[in-house]
Amino acid sequence: MSNLSLFAFLCAISAHSVVVVVAAATSAAYPSIPGVDTGECSFRGDGLLVPPRREVYDEGRIFDISHRYSPDLPVWESAEGLGEHFLWLEKSMKNGSLANSSAMKLGAHTGTHVDAPGHFFDNYYDLGFDVDSLDLTLLNGLALLVDVPRDKNITAEVMESLNIPRGVRRVLFRTLNTDRRLMFKKEFDTSFVGFKEDGAKWLIENTDIKLVGIDYLSAAAYDHSVLSHVAFLESREIILVEGLKLEDVPAGIYTLNCLPLRLVHSEASPIRCILSR
Ligand SMILES: *[C@@H]1O[C@H](CO)[C@@H](O)[C@H](O)[C@H]1NC(C)=O
Ligand SMILES: *[C@@H]1O[C@H](CO)[C@@H](O)[C@H](O)[C@H]1NC(C)=O
Ligand SMILES: *[C@@H]1O[C@H](CO)[C@@H](O)[C@H](O)[C@H]1NC(C)=O
Repeated sequence: MSNLSLFAFLCAISAHSVVVVVAAATSAAYPSIPGVDTGECSFRGDGLLVPPRREVYDEGRIFDISHRYSPDLPVWESAEGLGEHFLWLEKSMKNGSLANSSAMKLGAHTGTHVDAPGHFFDNYYDLGFDVDSLDLTLLNGLALLVDVPRDKNITAEVMESLNIPRGVRRVLFRTLNTDRRLMFKKEFDTSFVGFKEDGAKWLIENTDIKLVGIDYLSAAAYDHSVLSHVAFLESREIILVEGLKLEDVPAGIYTLNCLPLRLVHSEASPIRCILSR
């Protein structure tokens, strides 16, 4: 039996029991992302093929920590979210084209994305410090996922309390934003947790962290948007990865792999990031 017909057979013998097994596996491994199956069963009850959608692979060896680009994704200072129209079929087989071919229009800071120094420094922008100039050795390597105290923004005091050892170069900060599931709410929320200016400065002066990851659209708290971004980006040594999906990933040390698009002249890019161990 081919793999496909084996799947069809398994799905057919008992749609019900398969659903139960799938649900149990999902809740054990990755309970809280909506619309997720395990990627195991490829047919629905009516016999139509269902593509796998996974958040975690290989029983936790790989975690996908990027968000899906879908209409409800929140967008900076917008109540509407990304909306339906960011992606469309320019050529469609239903209309006689030889193939389906989509086009998209997307703010470069949409969803899980990376900031380049040109984001808050016009001189760097003009000089070409764009996302294509970012250091892939920094975007790929050992990273620490830490939980930040949930009752504060990331201040100097909070940074100090985390006791992140010298030598750690990449840290993903999980905050109250994850508990509040802010990246799953289409309305932009200014009360998200981020770095206050003193937290950013403390990190720069007292740690070796060069990659800062965070779980909402900005590494800087809303009321310190400019101050904290300026502090982080001034040296051109720190990379900010924003809008990460850190739900249900155990805190700890992982290999981080993040790859932005090579958008020449752009101060940001959507980025795909995974954690593996
Ligand atoms: C896209 O192509 C597939 C066949 O590969 C076809 O079944 C589907 O209807 C097409 N979608 C549209 C919107 O034309
Ligand atoms: C197909 O063409 C019709 C008529 O031009 C248009 O209204 C419709 O939106 C097209 N559909 C797709 C999927 O491109
Ligand atoms: C973090 O700062 C924002 C303002 O930027 C504020 O609205 C929010 O309440 C603060 N969050 C916490 C947990 O202190």
